[in-house]
Amino acid sequence: MLRIGIVGFGFMGRMHFRHWKLLPEARIVAICDANPNIREDTKKAVGNIEGAEGDIDLTGIELFRDLDEMLAKAKPDAISLTLPTYLHATCSEKALAAGVHVLCEKPMALTVEDCDRMIQAARKSGKVLQIGHCVRFWPEYAKAKEIVDSGQYGRVVAAMFQRLGAPPAWSVDNWFLDEKRSGGVALDLHIHDTDYVQYLFGMPKGVCSHGAKTKAGQLIHIVTTYDCGEDKLVIAEGGWGMTTGFGFEMSFNLILEQATIVYDLTRKPMFRVCPAAGEAFTPPVPEGDGYVREIEHFARTIQGRPVEEILTLEQSRNSVRIVEAEKKSIYRKEKIMIH
Ligand SMILES: NC(=O)c1ccc[n+]([C@@H]2O[C@H](COP(=O)([O-])OP(=O)(O)OC[C@H]3O[C@@H](n4cnc5c(N)ncnc54)[C@H](O)[C@@H]3O)[C@@H](O)[C@H]2O)c1
Repeated sequence: MLRIGIVGFGFMGRMHFRHWKLLPEARIVAICDANPNIREDTKKAVGNIEGAEGDIDLTGIELFRDLDEMLAKAKPDAISLTLPTYLHATCSEKALAAGVHVLCEKPMALTVEDCDRMIQAARKSGKVLQIGHCVRFWPEYAKAKEIVDSGQYGRVVAAMFQRLGAPPAWSVDNWFLDEKRSGGVALDLHIHDTDYVQYLFGMPKGVCSHGAKTKAGQLIHIVTTYDCGEDKLVIAEGGWGMTTGFGFEMSFNLILEQATIVYDLTRKPMFRVCPAAGEAFTPPVPEGDGYVREIEHFARTIQGRPVEEILTLEQSRNSVRIVEAEKKSIYRKEKIMIH
């Protein structure tokens, strides 16, 4: 039985909690959160994606306020690290040094340098570090990748990705809206699509980004064109400047030589392949959602069971690298090449 700890019990901590519960080989033994009221606060509905809300039974789970104490006393085999982004690097290093496997939420860290420190810590410890790039595991995104890689509909001519919502207002002290602690909309939200672009097409040669800012100068919306070679048009748009009534939407359109693949949370059916010849259809997708699939992948890896390579630490680092280039492109108003 895998002994699991959850570090950071806000929106994503609760999301991981619910999804770990679906794995028969895992038992949640400890939760660490600086908030002394997590018992009461577990009842609150938070976040922008369904799955974390509702009552949570914490019976039999040891509660801690401090990570060092949790690692020393509860001795978990692995943790879900669902803390605010500015704590990812230091806390991953601590857990790995204590001999604990780490599933750390995306983005890997605030800077490429911090990502490199995390990679070194993982190598030194011999323990698994996986970053929560759940979109690679999201059933429709995983299926689209499989279809593109199969080459059955020819090459991708153009690809458009979109991810839009209201500002994340659920965190206790609004750390999301502090760019120094979250990396802002580009690193926090838009990185999901940046990472998926890298997954589909490899490392882009360069990026050209444009952004919209608030009066206070905070970036709230970003559009990037990725130079993925072969005259392919690849664009991703991310924004958290929508009004609260808008909710949250994510979508993509992939135009291949012989088919269009469409995913849109707001459409019915949400996922369609429209071939040049024949009727549009919804292909079967893997079971579960992106969160349970990434947790299963992590659990299998730490148990030494066979897994398909879905993501590497270098790729997770490189997604932070690409976003850094995107921000630089907005600031300098020019295309930034990535070496
Ligand atoms: N994969 C996804 O779809 C997705 C979605 C949302 C957020 N995230 C990522 O998950 C991470 C967490 O986001 P969230 O929405 O859960 O944030 P949140 O603010 O809801 O939760 C963070 C929790 O950490 C606790 N905390 C803060 N400092 C602490 C410390 N020093 N020690 C112990 N606990 C501490 C807070 O009390 C809070 O409960 C972020 O990196 C974010 O980018 C990922």
